[in-house]
Amino acid sequence: MNPYIAAAVAEMDKVPVSRLEYPGSWALDPASCRFLAAFVRALGATRILEFGSGFSTLMMAREIAAVQDNYLLSIDDSPRYSAMAKEAFDGSGCQARVEFRVAPLRPKFANSKLLLSYSLPEGLIGALGPFDLVLIDAPHHDYGREAVFYDVFQAVAPGGYIVLDDANREGMEKKYVRSWDAAYGQAIQPVLLEGIGNGLCVIEKFSDASPAAPPFADAVLTSLKTVRNLTRLLLRGEH
Ligand SMILES: C[S@@+](CC[C@H](N)C(=O)[O-])C[C@H]1O[C@@H](n2cnc3c(N)ncnc32)[C@H](O)[C@@H]1O
Repeated sequence: MNPYIAAAVAEMDKVPVSRLEYPGSWALDPASCRFLAAFVRALGATRILEFGSGFSTLMMAREIAAVQDNYLLSIDDSPRYSAMAKEAFDGSGCQARVEFRVAPLRPKFANSKLLLSYSLPEGLIGALGPFDLVLIDAPHHDYGREAVFYDVFQAVAPGGYIVLDDANREGMEKKYVRSWDAAYGQAIQPVLLEGIGNGLCVIEKFSDASPAAPPFADAVLTSLKTVRNLTRLLLRGEH
């Protein structure tokens, strides 16, 4: 097994998750929080990018707080939950350099598919990288997390990692990982940790690469699903 993953699995039970601080079911599962913190420590990560602000932000920030030049950029599409995460972080006393940003979801073509993607200023993620670790724990529901990988791939340092939560979900995260695997081939190595929380997929990036285009049917079906998801998002009035 990958030595960093093995080290994190071996150490994760020693990571405390405070019952007083843990906000409940919307947050990353406690076991996943433990793994993530132990993984940040094992990697010696300094720069982290996160999609889905909340308790995971604090868990990772605490691990990098003592590291020089640490930086965590936490992105969420919800102003409300981003503000709640910032408030919890500010009240924690953690000294890590953490920046919270709100970026609404909008449709965008990525690797020949219409997907929902976070609307960030062009080039921002690349300019703030390279990142050692990216956590994908949002957007919620089935709005799709597929675009995030295409958006961040170039900003992840070779030898860096992308961790996807809820990786046991059929037809969603499992499908996204299959698509990324097919698109990036030898440039990445996904490892599914089925037994941790709702499943974590830890994806190592070996090298920079351009994604191979998906099969036409996949591109069409995924794009249609995005149109449905966008309609739901607009009807819910969240954007
Ligand atoms: C699965 S949550 C995880 C957030 C974060 N990674 C954590 O560990 O707390 C992902 C998304 O759900 C939304 N969210 C967070 N708390 C929520 C709540 N109580 N009700 C509805 N949505 C929530 C946020 O916008 C966030 O992007």
